[in-house]
Amino acid sequence: MTNWIKLIAVDDVPEDDVIGVMAEGHNIAVYKYEGEVYATANLCTHGQALLSDGFLEDGEIECPLHQGRFCIKTGKAMCDPLTRDVATYPLQIDDEGTILVAL
Ligand code: FES
Repeated sequence: MTNWIKLIAVDDVPEDDVIGVMAEGHNIAVYKYEGEVYATANLCTHGQALLSDGFLEDGEIECPLHQGRFCIKTGKAMCDPLTRDVATYPLQIDDEGTILVAL
């Protein structure tokens, strides 16, 4: 059975931006883009940088350290120097407007 964990209120995720949230020891980047919410692992797959410190544009998060970009919907690594995709997490929103994540 999927274990859904409360993450953050939808309203607390900034529009067209990203925020880092800890959930059961996982550091998760939560995005709101064009009215939808998405989640990926927060740590870049290339180095010690947090994607929540990066820049969200056109559905891609740009890492603040070497400007690698990931698709926030699929986690796909879109350019050099990235060689590995980033994990994505399924989300759902409960009746109270809280985002739940499946880890
Ligand atoms: Fe993210 Fe290098 S640490 S691109």
